[in-house]
Amino acid sequence: MTDGPKSGNPVAEPEVTAMFDSIAPAYDRMNSLMTLGRDAGWRRAAVEATRLRTGDAAIDVACGTGKLAALLAERVGPFGRVEAVDLSQGMLGRAEREYRDLVQLHFRVANALDLPFADGEFDAATIAFGLRNLADYEAGFREMARVVRPGGFVVCLELSLPRWRPYARLYHAMFRHVAPVAGAIVARRHQAYRYLPESLSSFPSAEQLAATMRAAGLVDVRFQRLMTGVVALHRGRVAAAG
Ligand SMILES: C[S@@+](CC[C@H](N)C(=O)[O-])C[C@H]1O[C@@H](n2cnc3c(N)ncnc32)[C@H](O)[C@@H]1O
Repeated sequence: MTDGPKSGNPVAEPEVTAMFDSIAPAYDRMNSLMTLGRDAGWRRAAVEATRLRTGDAAIDVACGTGKLAALLAERVGPFGRVEAVDLSQGMLGRAEREYRDLVQLHFRVANALDLPFADGEFDAATIAFGLRNLADYEAGFREMARVVRPGGFVVCLELSLPRWRPYARLYHAMFRHVAPVAGAIVARRHQAYRYLPESLSSFPSAEQLAATMRAAGLVDVRFQRLMTGVVALHRGRVAAAG
């Protein structure tokens, strides 16, 4: 926490992918446990922030087991389209099994930093608890902005560090010690869950993340802190062409 903020995750992509493959079977249970069930409400807030309408097209990046992607799919309806991408086959496999009834939702393996979609193809892009895993945060936002049409939104839901220092330290220590133990109990993946607090240490503050979004070319960047600042919801708009 004493280092300056990172501009990207230093852990190599194959290692990150292998880690998520290994925790995929327990990911949803761990998520609910570690967020005390609050993650569902945060994801709904992220969907709301997209301003998507029936029939729109959206992309969910680093979709994991597909919870946010499924909510987006419900929002745009059967005549809309949601593409959900992730690097982990293990996470995607669970998503595909869980949401096979949503015909407007498609999952595929792809890297957030090199999306296999055309410029301006979507009305909105989202990323939830995925950004801190990327090798380059600004490049991640730039790539999401690239595939969204001018005027559309890029929305990021991510863990954050609370502003109040003592609380931030307590939260950080709690995360560092509780996450691996909870991981050991629920998932028997002690080492894998050590990655989570590590990926949060020296992660940019909410203000710094907003600056990163602006640097990636997004405009009207706003954020709100959720749950006393342990989570932040950011949104930026893709600038009108010309
Ligand atoms: C903490 S999970 C979040 C999953 C889901 N979005 C959610 O809200 O629960 C992070 C996900 O990011 C994926 N990921 C990490 N690096 C990636 C990359 N470069 N491109 C695409 N997905 C990536 C991981 O495989 C993992 O499924």
